[in-house]
Amino acid sequence: MSEITNKVVIITGASSGIGEATALLLAERGAKVVLGARRVERLAALADRIAGAGGEAVYARTDVTRRADLTHLVTLACERYGKLDVLVNNAGIGPISRFDDLRVEDWEAMIDVNIKGVLYGIAAALPVFRQQGFGHIVNVISTAGLKIVPLQGVYAGTKNAVRTISEALRQEAGDKLRVTSVSPGFIATDFADSIPDPQVKAPILARRDQIAIAPEAIARGIAFAIEQPAEVEVGDLVIRPTAQD
Ligand code: NAI
Repeated sequence: MSEITNKVVIITGASSGIGEATALLLAERGAKVVLGARRVERLAALADRIAGAGGEAVYARTDVTRRADLTHLVTLACERYGKLDVLVNNAGIGPISRFDDLRVEDWEAMIDVNIKGVLYGIAAALPVFRQQGFGHIVNVISTAGLKIVPLQGVYAGTKNAVRTISEALRQEAGDKLRVTSVSPGFIATDFADSIPDPQVKAPILARRDQIAIAPEAIARGIAFAIEQPAEVEVGDLVIRPTAQD
C-alpha cells in the first residue's frame, strides 16, 4: 500500500498525453481515478484499460469551459467513491501564434480553457475539500511561463495566471489543503497539434521529436506530490528535458 492507494483523483484532459499517463500511473498505484475530457470514447477505452489491469476508474464527458461539467465531475467522484482527495487540473490548449496575426479567438480559447477551466475546477472542488477537511489541487502549468519567448505570449500568460492563482490559493488554503503546481517542459504528446500556422508548428514538432520526454515523467511528478504525508506540500515542480534550454 502506498499513500496513493484508495485516493480519489479527478484528472481533466485525461483522454491523451499527460492526463492519460497520470491516470494510468495513479490507477496502477491504487488510486480511484475519475476521468474528464471531451472525447468520451477515448475515456471509455482508458477506463476499460485501467479496469482490465485491476484498477478503478469512472469517467464523464467534461468540457472545462463549462462550469457545470466540473461540478458534475466532482459530484460523480463523491457519489461513486464517497470523497475527493485530489483534483488535477490538466486540460489545456496552446494554439500559439504571433500577435500580428490577431488570432483573437485562439487567445480567448486559451483564456477559457487554461484559466477559466482551472478556476471552474477549483470552484467545484474547494467546497468539498473544505467540508471534508482535506484535499489537494494540482495545476499543470508550463515552462512557457518561466522562459518567455515570442509566439507564446498569450499561452504563457494564461499559464502564469494559473501560477499566480495557485500561490494565492496555497496561502488561503490553510493547513488542511494542499496546492501543487507542475510546470512541464517539452513533452512528447499531441499538444502541438492545435497550433494553427504550419510554419509555426513545423519547427516545434521537429524540436519535440528531438528532445521531448515522455508524459510519464510528469505523471511521476504528480504522483510524488500526491504520495507525500498530509502535512507535506510539494509546491512547485519544474520537469523538463535535460536538453531543453
Ligand atoms: P494533450 O493535447 O495530449 O492533452 C491536453 C488535454 O486537454 C487533451 O486531452 C484535450 O482533449 C484536453 N482539453 C483541451 N481542451 C479541453 C476542454 N475544453 N475541456 C476538457 N479537456 C480539454 O497535451 P498534453 O501535453 O498532455 O497537455 C496537458 C497539459 O500539459 C496542458 O495543460 C498543457 O498546457 C500542459 N503542457 C504541455 C506541454 C507539452 O510539451 N506537451 C508543455 C507544458 C505544459
